[in-house]
Amino acid sequence: MNHLNHLNQDPLIDLLTFIECQCQKYNIDISHGIIHSRRCLKWAQNIMNNENDLSEDEKTVVMYAIAIHDLCDKKYVPLFEAIYDIRNFLEPRLSPEMTEAVLGIIQTMSYSFLNQRKLFKDGRETLWFPDHGKWSRAYHITRHADLLDGYHVGRCYLYTKRTFPDWSEDDTWNVVLELFQRRIYRYVSDGWITHPYAISVASSLEEEAKEAFRTRNWEYKDL
Ligand SMILES: [Fe+2]
Repeated sequence: MNHLNHLNQDPLIDLLTFIECQCQKYNIDISHGIIHSRRCLKWAQNIMNNENDLSEDEKTVVMYAIAIHDLCDKKYVPLFEAIYDIRNFLEPRLSPEMTEAVLGIIQTMSYSFLNQRKLFKDGRETLWFPDHGKWSRAYHITRHADLLDGYHVGRCYLYTKRTFPDWSEDDTWNVVLELFQRRIYRYVSDGWITHPYAISVASSLEEEAKEAFRTRNWEYKDL
């Protein structure tokens, strides 16, 4: 994150402080808040460690995009206002081109965004990913990092509990399980996860998820 060197603050602390402020402002809960950001940053770093020739600018765009991606999640925020805040944060810290790259990535990476835009190709429904040009690798790394954190059962439980606080434990767990069976366990087979590193860890993450369903025991903490 060399582009932040002009600031007096540690770049990561600067970034995480902004996320904390936005989470408070929009009441973004733990499932999409600072712990998710930190875990996704770790996943993104792991993926990037398996890439050979990423430029420093690509790495910077990935780090910013993955850290702040849920600060424009329509489940929590009014989009126009949230993007305005994010732009104001990014502009003094990144070049105009990288600012636009981060803003473009975070608005086109969510499951719901992509799931609504499937194409029919060769008679089959196919996932369509937007073309981010020279930032395409950064886009897919960012997208994959978020998907990998989707395998955390406890995180999904927390979000479900927050959304439906009156549901019984059994009902909550059943809905979380149904989501995993319909969506998360199919990330690889349905073409959401294509990066070799992400594929290599997906099966062990799936096993961990299944164990969490068996024991109903989990902890959502930094990786
Ligand atoms: Fe996310």
